[in-house]
Amino acid sequence: MKITEALFAEHLVFHNMFDHIEAAAPRLKTLAEIKSLAALMESLLKSHSDTEDEMFIGPLEHCFEQIGQRDAFLEEHQEIDVSLRYVQIAKDFKKARQLLLSAVSYSRKHFDKEERIVFPLAERVLNNKTLTTLNHTWMEQRARSGSGRSGR
Ligand SMILES: [Fe+2]
Ligand SMILES: [Fe+2]
Repeated sequence: MKITEALFAEHLVFHNMFDHIEAAAPRLKTLAEIKSLAALMESLLKSHSDTEDEMFIGPLEHCFEQIGQRDAFLEEHQEIDVSLRYVQIAKDFKKARQLLLSAVSYSRKHFDKEERIVFPLAERVLNNKTLTTLNHTWMEQRARSGSGRSGR
């Protein structure tokens, strides 16, 4: 499997999580519930985004520069992370929920952009062998870090 396919498969899981958060948000009653959803999303996204930064920025840097996307790519990951951290320090329930929902919608746009631009770019620029090797590296890193995700 290529790294782009593995990341895309993770995107599908995230899209389900985003649907779930958006559907659940109006029914949530406490600040603690909002914060725990935000914390879950933050920790799951972190390993996904770190992988993308590690795997793509190096090999694709010159291409991102050509299309003027280099900084945007890195900044969007930081932006999502920061907005989810704001949820953790929010004191007001409605504000926290609004921050969580805006992080979700921002993430959707970011994911959409990766699916339309970044992954196809990676597939054009890197050959299949490289993409497959990157995926193996990623799986090995995950196995070593004990995240329990294997079998891909
Ligand atoms: Fe990303
Ligand atoms: Fe992604």
